[in-house]
Amino acid sequence: MARIAAAKGGGVSLAGARRGGRSQLKIALVGVLVLGGTLGLLNMTPRSLHTEMHTSNTRKELRELTEGTARARLKPHLQEGGDLESAADISAAADASTASSSRATAQIVEHVFETSDGTEADDSLTAEQKLAAKQQEEEAERLKQEAASSDVNETPGEKYHVVCSLGSGIYTQWQSRVSYYWYLKTKAACDAAGSCPMGGYTRLLHSGEPDDYMAEIPTVVVEPLPPEYQALAAGYVVLDRPFAFKQWVEQHLHKIPENYIWMGEPDHLFIRPPPLWATPERPAAFPFFYIEPARFKSIIDRFNPKDVPITQFDAIGNSPVQIHKRQFAALADNWHKLSIRIKNDTEADKEFGWVQEMYAYSIAAATTLDQPVRHQLHVEMQLQPPWDTSLTSENGKEAYMIHFTYGDDFDEKGQFTPGKVGHWHWDKRDYTNKYPPRNFPMPPEGCTNECVKELIRRVNEAADNLPRWAEFEAELFAPVAPNFAEQFEVKEQRRRRNALGTRPQPGGSS
Ligand SMILES: *[C@@H]1O[C@H](CO)[C@@H](O)[C@H](O)[C@H]1NC(C)=O
Repeated sequence: MARIAAAKGGGVSLAGARRGGRSQLKIALVGVLVLGGTLGLLNMTPRSLHTEMHTSNTRKELRELTEGTARARLKPHLQEGGDLESAADISAAADASTASSSRATAQIVEHVFETSDGTEADDSLTAEQKLAAKQQEEEAERLKQEAASSDVNETPGEKYHVVCSLGSGIYTQWQSRVSYYWYLKTKAACDAAGSCPMGGYTRLLHSGEPDDYMAEIPTVVVEPLPPEYQALAAGYVVLDRPFAFKQWVEQHLHKIPENYIWMGEPDHLFIRPPPLWATPERPAAFPFFYIEPARFKSIIDRFNPKDVPITQFDAIGNSPVQIHKRQFAALADNWHKLSIRIKNDTEADKEFGWVQEMYAYSIAAATTLDQPVRHQLHVEMQLQPPWDTSLTSENGKEAYMIHFTYGDDFDEKGQFTPGKVGHWHWDKRDYTNKYPPRNFPMPPEGCTNECVKELIRRVNEAADNLPRWAEFEAELFAPVAPNFAEQFEVKEQRRRRNALGTRPQPGGSS
């Protein structure tokens, strides 16, 4: 899954880990041996030992990516937290956002440190957790193979309705407009080509109030969480999302003609029409490497009244997910309830962190009905630049969507500079108060990342065509890098990066 994507893109930091890592490697080796002894596993073959080591390293890499995602998930909360109306509001909100951003970053750093620290983290796994993780990997592999061999649902006339949820604010506004632009264009081409499974579209606005884009995008407005839950959420406004879908199910689902829905997010760009994979019994989802139910079995068991085996919890979030509307309607209320219960459980809140609403969906799917709802896993559902470098997914299939959640950085020669602001830099998080500038320059010549180029091309095209873009756009500075430091967005980035500096470097002193 994304494990390979990480290995593909993560070369630089892997090298870093190797460089400084000799003593760490020794400690790691000793750690594994001691662990092996403790668990009576000394008959481990060299091959499985190798796997063990490799898994540790890979985990570490993947954790680093998780941090990116966690931050990606954090930002909308900050943006949605306040109505940025006057300049004073903007700077106050910026300060508040900086403060809570550092807090959140610190929390994420802690999480990354705790769980990514190579063998140390693995040593902390109980034998039971290890076994469960292994079983879950086998199960995920089985599901992947099944998905690879299964045909799409070609029942005539069946379509999916895209539902994209968001709150108010510039940040999700420009993203969702670009997203809708590409939905329209992809669907038009799909319809022209013959029978197309892409149906209608709903922007699910959970701010409680209409905004300026009601006419541009088909929209329904639902309420944010009521005050007592907002107090519990304490700034984690992703909790609005399950509640928004619950309301949508209760008030609007019966109005759509399609039988299936596609749960999307504002940073999703369709690049070609996804087929309808889902059937009435089997939804389809993108597998996320950082959702690890087996790792958190003891926590999940608190939300598992039917004692569903941990292998039956899919390593997925709630988006992208394609699911029959009846099946989703049966899960939505419990997804919401679980998201609240998880937030209200100190340990679950801490361990699941910024992706807890994804866990809530996975748990809802496994535990709500008489039988666990299992998702077909389709890694080709989406690409995640810069870790994906072409338009082909890691399973060799052409991908359907770009999820632009990570920042993209390249040096003057077009070489990828992960974790560092590059000479060429594009990150959705730079555009929280302004839209990205039109005609954003393509990455430097020499950059071979077709996925990043496709993303920029598509954002540029949408920006060119969408009304009123110029009103909100940030300045484009050329050359991009030198003046970047002057920009508020980059200062923000710096501050966050400084906070991240407290994280032990790969292979650092240990
Ligand atoms: C959180 O849990 C406490 C104690 O378990 C309970 O009293 C409270 O009502 C819960 N809060 C919410 C919002 O569910």
